[in-house]
Amino acid sequence: MPDSENTTSPAPFSFDDSPIARELADLTSRRKVLAEVKVEFDGSTRVFTVSNQKGGVGKTTTTVNLAAGLASVGARVLVIDLDPQGNSSTALGIPHSADVASIYDVLIDEEPLADVIQTSPESPNLLCAPSTIHLAGAEIELVSQVAREHRLRTALETYLAENHVDFVFIDCPPSLGLLTINAFTAATEVLIPIQCEYYALEGLSQLLGSVSMIQKHLNPALHLSTILLTMYDGRTRLAQQVADEVRTHFPDRVLTTVIPRSVRVSEAPSFGQTVIAYDGQSAGAVAYREAAVEIARRGLAQNSEEGAH
Ligand SMILES: Nc1ncnc2c1ncn2[C@@H]1O[C@H](COP(=O)(O)OP(=O)(O)OP(=O)(O)O)[C@@H](O)[C@H]1O
Ligand SMILES: [Mg+2]
Repeated sequence: MPDSENTTSPAPFSFDDSPIARELADLTSRRKVLAEVKVEFDGSTRVFTVSNQKGGVGKTTTTVNLAAGLASVGARVLVIDLDPQGNSSTALGIPHSADVASIYDVLIDEEPLADVIQTSPESPNLLCAPSTIHLAGAEIELVSQVAREHRLRTALETYLAENHVDFVFIDCPPSLGLLTINAFTAATEVLIPIQCEYYALEGLSQLLGSVSMIQKHLNPALHLSTILLTMYDGRTRLAQQVADEVRTHFPDRVLTTVIPRSVRVSEAPSFGQTVIAYDGQSAGAVAYREAAVEIARRGLAQNSEEGAH
């Protein structure tokens, strides 16, 4: 008898059992669910500030893709670009050269917010108050202004009295200066993107300390409502550890959806697009669309709970 017949031969390779095939099957079924998803909006406006004083953790990416994800399920969404880098404006395809009317004019010259808002070419439901390079000076110019912490809030309240949007997302710079304080004063919900990497939690207690200071002195309604884990690489043990640690600390704030690290997500801004428009069926876009639906549904659940009390 030849040797080969004596040994137990390994199971024949089947593509269906491979991890990649399982991932694709999973993605396909998630796309199907999203294609049929229905979200209702109750006519209220939720104002989020997307903050984390750490740089490069995914604040802008999260702002524009959640906004586009919500717009794609029928919400009317306003993005306020409060970062002098202007990355949200770029990603939404909004011109923001120095001569464009911008959020700087609103904060410093009290121009109406309605006069600087533009519509993203991606969707008539997706609006943006752009930032220009002038905003870089605003941090210092604001110091000598009257009601310097409330200027964005006042402008937003005036706008919302005449215009309805379901969601406002304010993209903050990576610092805790007067621009970020204006965002904290204008918002009711803080959304913190956390990058699943080493040092992810460092600085978080400082951020939460700032949130409670603002709560105490400027805006009692402000609260941390949402944490989104971003740039998750499931192949590394570190990413899993960070995710577990964040979930242990903030069990009811962390979204179930996790945003994977994805080349499509990082490519989209160079085309002046969100990943939802650039490649809406890619893994990163699917995750952001799911996160958007989760945020919308959590809000409805919270509002009906509050209504019941
Ligand atoms: N899920 C992802 N997969 C791959 N790359 C990502 C992902 N999310 C963000 N990035 C990339 O990481 C970098 C930082 O992201 P982003 O600009 O959103 O962070 P940020 O917190 O807004 O930064 P800053 O503090 O400078 O404002 C960008 O180059 C972005 O394209
Ligand atoms: Mg940014």
